Amino acid sequence: MPHNPCCDDPNHHHDAPAPPPHPDRPRVLPPGPAAYAEAAETLTAGNLVAMPTETVYGLAGDAGNDAAVAAIFAAKGRPSFNPLIVHVADVGAAEALVHVDDRAARAMEMWWPGPLTLVLPRRADAPLSLLVSAGLDTVAVRSPAHPVARALILAADRPLAAPSANVSGHVSPTTPMHVVEEFPDGGGARLRLILAGGRCAIGVESTVLDLTGDRPLLLRPGSVTREELESVLGPVDVATAADGVKAPGMLISHYAPGLPVRLDATTVGDNEALLAFGPDQFLRGGAVRLNLSNNGDLTEAAANLFAMLRALDRPGLSGIAVMPVPDRGLGIAINDRLRRAAAPRT
Ligand code: TXA
Ligand code: MG
Repeated sequence: MPHNPCCDDPNHHHDAPAPPPHPDRPRVLPPGPAAYAEAAETLTAGNLVAMPTETVYGLAGDAGNDAAVAAIFAAKGRPSFNPLIVHVADVGAAEALVHVDDRAARAMEMWWPGPLTLVLPRRADAPLSLLVSAGLDTVAVRSPAHPVARALILAADRPLAAPSANVSGHVSPTTPMHVVEEFPDGGGARLRLILAGGRCAIGVESTVLDLTGDRPLLLRPGSVTREELESVLGPVDVATAADGVKAPGMLISHYAPGLPVRLDATTVGDNEALLAFGPDQFLRGGAVRLNLSNNGDLTEAAANLFAMLRALDRPGLSGIAVMPVPDRGLGIAINDRLRRAAAPRT
């Protein structure tokens, strides 16, 4: 028996080979003309492509194709009453799908392309799958700013339904490798390609604003804040549980890592992971620690949030302790996602 230089335990396997990848593991492609052409063909055939956006990676399919939309729901294991965001190139493309009144036009002019999703009345003749809005008479539309998402929408030449590219209830992906981790088997072989577009700059999902009522209703906080919306649109209401499951991204347990999450931590246990914010030298201990932003920058913290929750979600630890994050600006969206990550699991 050869001498083992590392230890004397003959049962200790060194460099155990990783299991072979699933045959349907999606391919990660760097963006470029050939990648866009292949991705457009994949979408036209009713299959799925993961695309980077400035917020998080999306699991995109042809929004006009029932089978493609059903494949998105199936891959995510998402309850089908949860409608999807439809991604378009510009205001003109949105106008083919929804009724755009003056108020919506002002919001689009101000924030599109960008991280603002608008819920608007669906046009009777909208060339969209009924499944995409899950039976509602409204559609959520967004024009992403990320150049790779924009190039893909243009190459596919159709609106793309795209929820975050994670299994329902999991933390949203902000890198191409996160998407591979979520769908190692290609989501039942329908997710063929992942367009690699680096790390998402914003890191939390778009702001969702319902413009179908008299007063704008904020369904999901994001990087476009309530104050910014109010400066252009006037008073904005904030959806509460009383608004029902208007946006099921509002389901209380959501964006959850495997470990329990403990908020507003001022101490950390020996077997806990610490997700710190700001100068954290006064908080000692923890099995492993990461800092959302050493100098307390909320934009940096949002961009790091989901990747750090994933990185701290390690077997053998008892939980993730999270230091308080100020509840202003982007901190409101960060705290919304953290509360869901910490909520009792359903
Ligand atoms: O940043 C984002 O918005 C990402 C990227 C990929 O664009 N997408 C995303 O999609 O977060 P998703 O499906 O994970 O979240 C969509 C949110 C959900 O809270 C959903 O309930 C809400 O938008 N929504 C979609 N259509 C709606 C509708 N017709 N009425 C009300 N809420 C709607
Ligand atoms: Mg999501």
